[in-house]
Amino acid sequence: MQFKIIRPDDWHLHVRSGEALKSVIGMSAKQMGRAIIMPNLTPPVINADQATDYRNEIINALPKNSSFNPLMVLYLTDNTSTRDIELASASSIVKAAKLYPAGATTNSDSGVTDITNIYPALEAMSKAGMPLLVHGEVTRHDVDIFDREAVFIDQTLSKVVLDFPDLKVVFEHITTKEAVDFVLNGSANIAATITPHHLLANRNDMLVGGIRPHYFCLPILKREKPHQLALLDAATSGNAKFFLGTDSAPHTKHAKESSCGCAGILSAHCAIELYASVFESKNALDKLEGFASRFGPQFYSLPPNTDTITLTKQDWVVPDSYEYAGSVIVPFMAGKKLSWKMS
Ligand code: NCD
Ligand code: ZN
Repeated sequence: MQFKIIRPDDWHLHVRSGEALKSVIGMSAKQMGRAIIMPNLTPPVINADQATDYRNEIINALPKNSSFNPLMVLYLTDNTSTRDIELASASSIVKAAKLYPAGATTNSDSGVTDITNIYPALEAMSKAGMPLLVHGEVTRHDVDIFDREAVFIDQTLSKVVLDFPDLKVVFEHITTKEAVDFVLNGSANIAATITPHHLLANRNDMLVGGIRPHYFCLPILKREKPHQLALLDAATSGNAKFFLGTDSAPHTKHAKESSCGCAGILSAHCAIELYASVFESKNALDKLEGFASRFGPQFYSLPPNTDTITLTKQDWVVPDSYEYAGSVIVPFMAGKKLSWKMS
């Protein structure tokens, strides 16, 4: 069995820089037409000039003849000015700005310490039609890690959408039923990305029978019921508010298999195949093209890609590791059998 879909895009991707970038960029370039490139480098990408430099580095690292188009993102800090937003919006390469609550995840130390610090920037983004991409977790120590997304909705995100009704918001890598409901009940300006690992795994995969660091990511994997099941329903529903964003986030094997392992899962090596298996399991392969290739561009006011990819029902085994920046990386589903292959 075989079918074609319009070439997908990845609306949430980490490709790092330097040697790490060179190791992983080909994986996404092979499958995706475009990707929203997350700006959490050290130091982060905080203005249009840095975004231009980073974009050039990515273009130079692409395989020959690749037409992959990196869409750049500003990293919001307490000091992001309305001028930074205006310059970014005027540059045709910056498509969005990302809110990392300070301390929420990998390389978020320069993130926002209080949402009201970026209200002038949000006002400018709303005016410019520039989407706000949100890492939706609170970081207070008194809030349990499994509750951090739901508390963020109650205490921060619901206020932001009331204060900026015209602001486009992408609630990134949603993990809970509360997030699904928030997006469903929100205005047409509110959408969400859903990762393959939050669709295919839950906290049991990470913790039962031993601690599995390659399943550790942020926001952390939640319960199957009701959270994973709500994500599966949302992704495969055909509702245009939900679209593909892998959050593929490479870290070396060594950095993850540690007494204090890094958060992040590499899924770029088989992203579309993972989503295909999800949609097949829900008997919804006919909805894959909308989720993977049409709803994202629609939200970002961009045309869909003009070429197609072919997915073939075919068993193959994911490699145990890939070479990564002079070291190795263990990919999502390492050593496991997948039943779809992109050709
Ligand atoms: C991401 C990373 O490693 O950059 N990690 C992760 O667990 N998802 C950061 C992020 O998106 O939170
Ligand atoms: Zn991410």
